[in-house]
Amino acid sequence: MELGFTLMHAAQGRGIATEALRALVQALFRFPQVRCVVAETDERNRASIRVLERLGMTLVERREAVFKNEPCVELRYRLAR
Ligand SMILES: CC(C)(COP(=O)(O)OP(=O)(O)OC[C@H]1O[C@@H](n2cnc3c(N)ncnc32)[C@H](O)[C@@H]1OP(=O)(O)O)[C@@H](O)C(=O)NCCC(=O)NCCS
Repeated sequence: MELGFTLMHAAQGRGIATEALRALVQALFRFPQVRCVVAETDERNRASIRVLERLGMTLVERREAVFKNEPCVELRYRLAR
């Protein structure tokens, strides 16, 4: 399963994203067919990286890419059940 997440600005900085994603990951792992969860983020997105690290996800790939006509580096994180 691939995770994607956005929190409205006014709700950020309170731990809500981490708490919600932790609950989601736990719920997903109750399905035996879900072997792992993955997520991708831009390496400049420190807030997103911190969320993924707090979830215990591991950086498994670093890839140069183009997003909205701009070069960037995409990071792929993974958490196995
Ligand atoms: C990515 C995103 C969801 C992270 O939101 P966030 O508010 O930083 O994440 P959390 O809800 O987990 O909050 C954690 C922050 O709240 C702080 N915090 C404050 N009170 C807290 C509490 N009671 N409990 C836990 N954390 C608390 C933590 O210290 C932490 O800040 P830090 O990372 O600077 O140390 C948000 O930045 C966002 O929506 N960005 C735009 C969309 C985006 O980039 N999505 C990701 C695409 S890959």
